[in-house]
Amino acid sequence: MGSSTRILFCLTMLSNIHFSLAQDENQFIYNGFNGANLHLDGIAKILPNGLLQLTNTSLQQKGHAFYKIPISFNTSSSALTPFPSFSTNFVFAIVSETPDISCHGLAFTISPSMDFSQALAGQYLGLFNISNVGHSTNHVLAIELDTIRNPEFEDINNNHVGIDVNNLNSVESAPAAYFSAEGKNIGLMLPNGEPMQLWIDYDAAKRILNVTIAPIRSSKPNRPLLSTQIDLSQVLLEKMHVGFSSATGPLASEHYVLGWSFNRTGPAWDLETSKLPPLPPKKKKTQKPSNIIIILPVAATVALVIFIGAAYFIRKKKYEEVREDWETEYGPQRFSYKNLYIATNGFKETELLGAGGFGKVYRGTLPTSNLQIAVKRVSHDSTQGMKEFIAEISSMRRLRHRNLVQLLGYCRRKGELLLVYDYMPNGSLDKFLFSNEKPILSWFHRFQVLKGVASALLYLHEEWEQVVLHRDVKASNVLLDADFNGRLGDFGLARLYDHGTNPQTTHVVGTVGYLAPELSRTGKATTGTDVFAFGVFMLEVACGRKPADLQGLPEDESLVDWVLSCWRRGAILDVIDPKLEGKYLIEEMELVLKVGLLCSHPFPAMRPNMRQVMQYLDGNADLPEIDSSISTSPFTPSNKASEPLLSFSTSYGKCSARSMSSNESMLHIGH
Ligand SMILES: *[C@@H]1O[C@H](CO)[C@@H](O)[C@H](O)[C@H]1NC(C)=O
Ligand SMILES: *[C@@H]1O[C@H](CO)[C@@H](O)[C@H](O)[C@H]1NC(C)=O
Ligand SMILES: *[C@@H]1O[C@H](CO)[C@@H](O)[C@H](O)[C@H]1NC(C)=O
Ligand SMILES: *[C@@H]1O[C@H](CO)[C@@H](O)[C@H](O)[C@H]1NC(C)=O
Ligand SMILES: *[C@@H]1O[C@H](CO)[C@@H](O)[C@H](O)[C@H]1NC(C)=O
Repeated sequence: MGSSTRILFCLTMLSNIHFSLAQDENQFIYNGFNGANLHLDGIAKILPNGLLQLTNTSLQQKGHAFYKIPISFNTSSSALTPFPSFSTNFVFAIVSETPDISCHGLAFTISPSMDFSQALAGQYLGLFNISNVGHSTNHVLAIELDTIRNPEFEDINNNHVGIDVNNLNSVESAPAAYFSAEGKNIGLMLPNGEPMQLWIDYDAAKRILNVTIAPIRSSKPNRPLLSTQIDLSQVLLEKMHVGFSSATGPLASEHYVLGWSFNRTGPAWDLETSKLPPLPPKKKKTQKPSNIIIILPVAATVALVIFIGAAYFIRKKKYEEVREDWETEYGPQRFSYKNLYIATNGFKETELLGAGGFGKVYRGTLPTSNLQIAVKRVSHDSTQGMKEFIAEISSMRRLRHRNLVQLLGYCRRKGELLLVYDYMPNGSLDKFLFSNEKPILSWFHRFQVLKGVASALLYLHEEWEQVVLHRDVKASNVLLDADFNGRLGDFGLARLYDHGTNPQTTHVVGTVGYLAPELSRTGKATTGTDVFAFGVFMLEVACGRKPADLQGLPEDESLVDWVLSCWRRGAILDVIDPKLEGKYLIEEMELVLKVGLLCSHPFPAMRPNMRQVMQYLDGNADLPEIDSSISTSPFTPSNKASEPLLSFSTSYGKCSARSMSSNESMLHIGH
């Protein structure tokens, strides 16, 4: 250090120079990259407004941007002068063309070389290739922001931050999230198109590498997302380049960096967010689904029967598909049958994950990307309505939520439709609740699953561009990913409605035991009937019992009735799943049972909506106290301000007063 080439700068000048400032080879700050001392390659470019665009929407491309002057990471330092610390922060944004999937991500990179011409795009993030990935001779440290789950690199999910050393198998990684001042873990969707900030701090004395992420409007969270013990003196060489690497894959995403601050000798300065260049205006969606009601009477137009075995195939037509002109617009989400065939080992019985009302589901691994998938084969004997059906699939594919099983695409064959989903390694929740093959799911996980599924339903009901009804919420439609997060699956029955319009009369679909009483009367599925099913599902998870299969109970008694009657008798502990062996938080258990009963209220107007359910589960809204001494009402309201709860006890009475016939009433009213 102490180099004569150091450009001295005056602190008072700082406020005047806002685009860039490269005052020392070992420390710099760029609020926008106009005039920045960067080496670009691949498709990376600096846009006229100073935005660094690492990739555009071209497929299978790499983009790199490195600070031209090598940084001195002095490895010959003695014990007295420990291997140096460094600190950096930058603001980035990932803009995905398809809102449901983004490829592949970007990485802050420290590397001995700026030459990545031999590296691969896609899941290699423009950093490594097949022959050098994992080699200690790479001397590469990367902090990846990865938006695809590659089982090959043991990725935890399709939205994570990871610390990579010479390899894409992360040393440590975590789902993208930050900790609020209250210590709450708040999830972030990396490819949501919004700027976010990442901080990387290394303390050489303690050998701690911290990685922290937050939305651009938040200040740096006190608690880092990742805090890892790591000795970088074994990784970094004397002269290293710092910068960014990014890659696209089979889908297009733009990766941007808006500003960057780096310091090898101390804490990096904060970026001035007001001076960062703006992102390009969001592209108008080409599709206007709000004008089309993407509904198809699935059951009516497509007869769905279970497909039986590979005997179906005529050998020479092994990979033949059905493809029509109108399908070209769905090009990207179309999978080739050949790939699905190879992925599933020819739909071998050993790959069979399960068989449901709609067809068989197989596990597979896509040949090129190594992505693990689940393929559902649905037979249909009609091409009628296929166009609408595919439009619906295409729309569902755009649904994106961490608690939904992602639909990736489809393939069509004569007499058959194949739906491709993300693979959920832990299978369906009902197996954990009701079968002895799987271990007991702890209360911690059950509560997380309930909250996750609630947030997925809220997303479907209120947060997407259209109201989506699930219509078949139940434990067997909730799948568990590698981290035991609950993911709502099977949108075979989902129908989409425009916001604000009345749901149309449809066939009653769903599962006995989860059907709201008004459904049999009106035949109309609503968000309220989904809430009802969710309520039954909550009770199912807490009690470990199927709603329509209650051994040792009077035949006509439902799960809801039973929980309610136990509650009135003051024997609420009797309903709790004995398999939990008492290991649960009583407050959470009570909350779940109460909210479950509220949701499965026979009178739709008395049910909370999913937003309220989330508030109850998060402890952000009060529920009434239980007073078991009042035998005719399950709850005595304590919170007069909370309207629906206030009338909860009486509304069961109201409901009967409205002369529902006894077989329509889900709950026996206290006489
Ligand atoms: C992306 O950038 C490259 C290099 O500048 C250019 O050749 C290509 O046309 C761009 N693609 C799109 C879709 O803009
Ligand atoms: C590296 O560290 C050694 C030992 O502390 C010191 O003598 C040398 O000047 C340092 N080199 C640079 C380039 O900072
Ligand atoms: C992988 O990259 C290394 C380092 O750039 C290069 O020497 C090697 O030839 C590449 N291998 C392949 C298979 O591309
Ligand atoms: C890393 O995070 C830990 C835990 O919050 C904190 O104690 C430590 O000071 C941080 N170190 C750096 C270099 O930011
Ligand atoms: C880098 O850290 C040193 C030591 O704390 C500080 O004096 C300097 O202003 C910092 N520079 C930048 C660009 O963050």
